[in-house]
Amino acid sequence: MLQVVDLVKTYFQGKIPVHALAGVSFEVADGEFVTITGPSGSGKSTVLNLIGGLDQPTTGDVRIDNVSLLKLSDTERTKMRRDRIGFVFQFFNLLPTMSALENVSLPLILGGVRRKDAEARATEILTHVGLGDRVKHRPDELSGGEQQRVAIARALAYNPVLILADEPTGNLDTKSGKQVLEMLRGLATQERKSVVLVTHDPNAWRYGDRMVRLVDGKVDQILKNEEAR
Ligand SMILES: Nc1ncnc2c1ncn2[C@@H]1O[C@H](COP(=O)(O)OP(=O)(O)OP(=O)(O)O)[C@@H](O)[C@H]1O
Ligand SMILES: [Mg+2]
Repeated sequence: MLQVVDLVKTYFQGKIPVHALAGVSFEVADGEFVTITGPSGSGKSTVLNLIGGLDQPTTGDVRIDNVSLLKLSDTERTKMRRDRIGFVFQFFNLLPTMSALENVSLPLILGGVRRKDAEARATEILTHVGLGDRVKHRPDELSGGEQQRVAIARALAYNPVLILADEPTGNLDTKSGKQVLEMLRGLATQERKSVVLVTHDPNAWRYGDRMVRLVDGKVDQILKNEEAR
């Protein structure tokens, strides 16, 4: 489903190169849940942003269902990102003045879906993530765990095949974090979505099928999780 091929990313701080990634390769199958761990600065967020087409690699490639992100035009890449990839972030990134329903329906409306249809779809997904009775709440009227579930609902608006999550439990208590991890696990197992989760959370890797550990911008090890559910 997803192939990460020898990704190299070098940033320049003035003239000084920062080698964020020094050749990272791994694959993720349909319905597979892969966690990415490693020390701070090892390149985890960089990999995730390159997979999501938010940034361009120095060299290397990302293929999603055999389509090379590098070969797409900017417009095609934007469309791919919108239709096939769902992003979830550590700080939720919800719009504070909008209700849960508006936050989830907005990307659909911006994509040309009629408001009525967008709101029906948003209600359906919010119900699916257990927030059917919170659709009118604004982010400041929701708990952290609920806000993250709204963010997951928003990521699911276009029914993506790939979910990318960067530290989604980083700001949550253990119980809400567990709920979010279980939800991501369910999306992989029941809906065959591929999930790539960047995390420091020592509980998180048990939810994944495999763990990729990065050190200094390289793959240090890949472990299969025999206990994955
Ligand atoms: N825009 C940038 N310009 C220059 N250097 C950068 C930039 N973004 C990241 N880096 C550097 O690249 C390396 C990898 O950063 P990255 O954000 O991928 O790490 P990370 O593994 O996600 O760390 P953390 O666990 O702290 O989030 C770091 O050394 C960082 O300082
Ligand atoms: Mg990071």
